[in-house]
Amino acid sequence: HMPPLDQCYNLLDFEAVAQRVMKRTAWGYYSSAADDEITLRENHAAFHRIWFRPRILIDVEKIDMSTTMLGTPCSIPFYVTATALGKLGHPEGEVVLTRASHKHNVIQMIPTLASCSFDDIVDAAAPGQVQWLQLYVNKDREVTRRIVQHAERRGCKALFITVDAPQLGRREKDMRFKFTDQGSKVQEGQATDTSQGAARAISSFIDPSLSWADIPWFRSITKMPIVLKGVQRVEDVVRAVEAGVQGVVLSNHGGRQLDSSRSAVEVLAETMPVLRELGLESKIEVYVDGGVRRATDILKALCLGARGVGIGRPFLYAMSAYGQPGVERAMQLLKDEMEMGMRLLGARSIAELTPALVDARSLANH
Ligand code: FNR
Repeated sequence: HMPPLDQCYNLLDFEAVAQRVMKRTAWGYYSSAADDEITLRENHAAFHRIWFRPRILIDVEKIDMSTTMLGTPCSIPFYVTATALGKLGHPEGEVVLTRASHKHNVIQMIPTLASCSFDDIVDAAAPGQVQWLQLYVNKDREVTRRIVQHAERRGCKALFITVDAPQLGRREKDMRFKFTDQGSKVQEGQATDTSQGAARAISSFIDPSLSWADIPWFRSITKMPIVLKGVQRVEDVVRAVEAGVQGVVLSNHGGRQLDSSRSAVEVLAETMPVLRELGLESKIEVYVDGGVRRATDILKALCLGARGVGIGRPFLYAMSAYGQPGVERAMQLLKDEMEMGMRLLGARSIAELTPALVDARSLANH
């Protein structure tokens, strides 16, 4: 009863199929979010409050959606964000995402808590393929130093430090289904208590004492650009610039951490005018993630000033249901939607995506 792949016409179709075919525990881990999942729903809903103001009679025969993110050229301004435990959804795990990303010249962020080993994921990449590292900071800083410096030696092009998870959120769906599967490799062989679900079980090493004072240390151990993932207010974006990091991801961790956090596009609308006013716009790259399901969502975020967007669950669902061909089709659908969206919007290049092309007055922070 599984529909053929060519009958998936958009990213939400993959989710519907995945819900039917995935193991309950895996579905529970991937789809769950914190508490009442208010933020999870809001992530998607917030995009519906932004409207387009297309330009007409522009020669849009040729559309160029290529861009650069943290200095790296890529075919389209989205990346595969870090999501833990890829083998819950597919026996080969994260390397499926690696191979699909290569086909589409898309950047992949490698999670600290991948099911595959870090080296297997790097080895699965083609020559020149760009990967980033997502870091959960270990209480033992020597472990963290080893992870970061190993990633840099292996060619990772940026370090994303997750800053929204001093403790993992309560994902009750995940807790109910309990985590019994063996998709995960627990970091550094730590004993785990799985009674609270998959997430808690694997995250006990994360250091809740991580603070701004640690940022200079990270700067001293790596030359990779540093990006703070999980920023939720303009004050912290400004502070990130002052701390000398190269980027921020406005993100609420897909609604999996603090419930009732705002969506990233709300925070983006709060952030960009302040950065412009302070003359800091060129000092930092601002990314967003959470709820991106259509190229029109990507376009809205870019018009509001994002450099690029991260996409998580849709690729997990495509991978779980259809393997690598599924992920490739999901990426192709986004490219097709993006080309059409830019054409109908009257924007021929990423540089032409400006605030003038959206009406964001329904966002609280406009
Ligand atoms: C995540 N996310 C995440 N983030 C992170 O920094 N480290 C991690 O290990 C994980 N793991 C993880 C697992 C799963 C199953 C999900 C769904 C998400 C958060 C992720 O990087 C990103 O912020 C959100 O997934 C973006 O929202 P969407 O695209 O899933 O709506």
